[in-house]
Amino acid sequence: MKNNSAYGSLAPFLPVDDAVFPLDQQAVFGRTAPLEVEIGFGTGEYLVRAAAAAPEKDFIGLEQCARRILATLRKIKGAGTGVRAGNIRVMRMDAVWAFRFLFKERSLARVHCLFPCPWPKKRHAKNRLFTTEFLRVINGRLIDGAELYIVTDHKPYAAWITEHAEGSGFALRAGIIPARFGTKFERKWFEAGQSSFYEISLTKTQHQVTAQEGVAMKAYLFDEVDLDNIRLEDLWGPVTVKFGAWLHDPRLKKAMVDAVVSEDGRVQHVWIVVAPARKGWSVAPAAGTVVLPTLGVQQALDRVAEAVRLSVAGAK
Ligand SMILES: C[S@@+](CC[C@H](N)C(=O)[O-])C[C@H]1O[C@@H](n2cnc3c(N)ncnc32)[C@H](O)[C@@H]1O
Repeated sequence: MKNNSAYGSLAPFLPVDDAVFPLDQQAVFGRTAPLEVEIGFGTGEYLVRAAAAAPEKDFIGLEQCARRILATLRKIKGAGTGVRAGNIRVMRMDAVWAFRFLFKERSLARVHCLFPCPWPKKRHAKNRLFTTEFLRVINGRLIDGAELYIVTDHKPYAAWITEHAEGSGFALRAGIIPARFGTKFERKWFEAGQSSFYEISLTKTQHQVTAQEGVAMKAYLFDEVDLDNIRLEDLWGPVTVKFGAWLHDPRLKKAMVDAVVSEDGRVQHVWIVVAPARKGWSVAPAAGTVVLPTLGVQQALDRVAEAVRLSVAGAK
């Protein structure tokens, strides 16, 4: 019997590779209800409660920590069938990339973030999430008049967000509130003696146009290939692509290579496969590869395709 006691059920977990870019809410939830997003949901107290209280809405939670995602999946199961996989999905994804790539312009009814990492040391402030640039991207994905709601325990971070909200198309209202969400981090600060928290409500007043990122991956087809004669060169520059060993089994008539793509401060691993297609040979990411469709990934594909083309040209 499968032991899934660590997470209850994986049904609400939405892997990045299953999400079409941009997100197709109809395909994911089977309907187009108002869609809300929680950034950094931690162990899911707020997300699960919000989804259970509003079955007429859909919720996507974004979190980077796998352990906390598993704890949230357990809570979703514990909350009963109403939220089990119906109106809630959790993703292991960096919120910055999710907003840039996944969510469509004017598609979100509300965005929540409780107790974002405050990065209190001055030299770490560059890691803070709510930069003007990111606020503008969130603004563009919210419907007009909708709210981005943030609560922090850290007064300097609240002031920093207020400063960075300037020019991001939001009207800002700030206040001080008592503990009221019962999340793990709120409890942590409350138990350490903190009784006031900093609430920032940002209402979208002016639409910000920011690019819906992601490239439609160019597929490659070749009439012939010489799998024994493929020479790959790494790419160095703003986009770096480091290829692993070329794996080729002549009996299987296919080959693959692991490409490590580094760009824009992020690293992705992509398995690229050269395999027989209906007509000729295809060069494409392996089925199930978890990648964002970035320019860097396309450049890795381009490199492999060029090496495949040269494998035959060189032999002639
Ligand atoms: C201080 S915890 C707060 C968790 C929860 N909201 C709570 O109140 O208990 C911040 C959470 O945000 C997550 N996080 C940080 N940066 C993130 C990002 N860029 N995208 C998604 N999640 C992020 C962290 O993994 C962590 O679980």
